[in-house]
Amino acid sequence: MLTIKISDLSPVEIQGYLNYAVAPRPICLASTIDLAGNINLSPFSYFNIFSVNPPVCVFSPSRRVRDNTTKHTLENILEVPECVINIVNYDIVQQVSLSSVEYGKGVNEFVKSGLTMLPSELVKPPRVTEARVQLECIVKDVISLGDHAGAGNLVIAEIKLIHIDEAILDSAGKIDQAKIDLVARLGGDWYCRVTTESLFNVAKPNKNIGIGVDAIPFAIRNSKILTGNNLGQLGNVEALPTTMDIEAYAQLPGVKELFDGEDSQTQVHLKAKRLLEDGKVEEAWKVLLVTAL
Ligand SMILES: Cc1cc2nc3c(=O)[nH]c(=O)nc-3n(C[C@H](O)[C@H](O)[C@H](O)COP(=O)(O)O)c2cc1C
Repeated sequence: MLTIKISDLSPVEIQGYLNYAVAPRPICLASTIDLAGNINLSPFSYFNIFSVNPPVCVFSPSRRVRDNTTKHTLENILEVPECVINIVNYDIVQQVSLSSVEYGKGVNEFVKSGLTMLPSELVKPPRVTEARVQLECIVKDVISLGDHAGAGNLVIAEIKLIHIDEAILDSAGKIDQAKIDLVARLGGDWYCRVTTESLFNVAKPNKNIGIGVDAIPFAIRNSKILTGNNLGQLGNVEALPTTMDIEAYAQLPGVKELFDGEDSQTQVHLKAKRLLEDGKVEEAWKVLLVTAL
């Protein structure tokens, strides 16, 4: 394991390590306006949601690592504490990247990127028509994290209105994670796209109190076949199957044969692993516990 002291690194090196490791980051395409009415549009991936009641987003227009100058977005927000956070999807990612070019003060990056302005209902900066989710926000606070090059400025933005393109909703009126087609920023020039193929579910542990990995019998916990993810699934059950359930399972066709061969423990663990990969956690537990009968 490489261990590096921050004091031995330059800001560029720190940025390099952190941007690659703390990723993927969602992208906020922030629209702002100055007192003279000049509109600005720029992307920020030091961004997330931090509260739902009140609903608050934070993003960070940092001081430039190169020359310690501040960004127009920050300057605008200090003049007019409002913004629209437009959520970035795959169809606009190249235009979003273009909007990050350091155009001069007063240049409207909507025009430069070819994205379309849509009047907001509550705040002065316009929305991005092409974005499928647009959040109208009032800026509550700006917290400077320092005066040196690379220092962040936390823009604490309270969401007042949420606009959602109906095309990304499911039949229940909720946002369909597969339809929103999000992209995220990683290190350097890397981005990733959330596709149907890259999406997967992890059963929420907070509905039930899982037994925990420490409660899994030693021979299973120390399996050479089951992975940490497999143990996480096994530890997430609220209770083990009952003896009656396991006995009933042992009678099913094909189950006894699992224990006939030479290396039956390997066969059992391989079978349990396949079941876990298919999300069949209860059946995996039964297979693993049949020998304990
Ligand atoms: C996808 C993406 C994410 C970015 N994230 C950030 C960020 O979180 N913080 C930041 O200071 N700059 C970020 N940048 C760079 C700014 O967008 C860039 O400095 C821009 O010129 C700022 O514009 P402004 O001076 O008009 O506000 C990002 C650029 C891209 C393309």
